[in-house]
Amino acid sequence: MPLFYQHNINQDTKLGIWFIEEPESFFLEKVPLKKDVSHPFKRRQHLAGRYLLSYLFPDFPIEEIRIADTRQPFLASQKYHFSISHCGNYAAAVVSTNSRVGVDLELITPRIERVAHKFLHEEEEHFFNEDYALFLEQWGLRGRVFQEFLTLVWSAKEAIFKWYGRGELDFKSHMKLEGSVNLDGDWIKLPFVFDKGRAVHLGIEGRIFEEQSLALAWVLT
Ligand SMILES: CC(C)(COP(=O)(O)OP(=O)(O)OC[C@H]1O[C@@H](n2cnc3c(N)ncnc32)[C@H](O)[C@@H]1OP(=O)(O)O)[C@@H](O)C(=O)NCCC(=O)NCCS
Repeated sequence: MPLFYQHNINQDTKLGIWFIEEPESFFLEKVPLKKDVSHPFKRRQHLAGRYLLSYLFPDFPIEEIRIADTRQPFLASQKYHFSISHCGNYAAAVVSTNSRVGVDLELITPRIERVAHKFLHEEEEHFFNEDYALFLEQWGLRGRVFQEFLTLVWSAKEAIFKWYGRGELDFKSHMKLEGSVNLDGDWIKLPFVFDKGRAVHLGIEGRIFEEQSLALAWVLT
């Protein structure tokens, strides 16, 4: 089934994940290709992301999408706020009639440990390398669970980057996980502080899809 997952966040905001198995022609029936995406696989990802927008809200005017100088896609009419992510054979989108949104989907791999120093705030680095690693080691869970949580934090920061939309963000200093992480069913609630001159508290929601090795994070305000 092409729609892999849907979550209606509230009555104005929907999140979806599409499993991309259709040929390009399927998406092109509904989605005008305006951007020059030369790689066929990336083109299918791009088209699937836009297709999903209209799947979630059938009156979404895909043809009116414009691209800002920062590369953020947007609707000048602001009829909908939206955010898109793609990863492997999956495309994710969050669409809202009234809230600013950001979404990101990442594949969980061991590589995340090697690049963590590029995106972790020094306090987060301390937490991951000292407190959390030691805690997990006690239970013999250091590898996989550690990578899942690290990927979720990376994904949360990418979602914040897209929610902000204006680019020029330093992942290490402008956003930080601060406070306790809580579980709500399958959802993981991650309190972040985004600070680029004025601190804003953001409640990021994340989720791990174990079987697909995916980490999903979204934010709305
Ligand atoms: C733009 C960026 C967020 C895309 O993330 P990604 O994981 O590579 O790719 P994703 O598939 O998740 O997202 C791509 C989508 O993001 C959206 N996007 C691109 N630039 C955006 C921006 N400035 N704001 C909001 N959304 C944006 C687009 O919808 C794009 O898909 P489309 O071109 O098909 O429409 C990412 O490449 C980036 O620049 N991140 C910041 C880099 C950085 O500062 N890193 C430092 C820490 S190491």
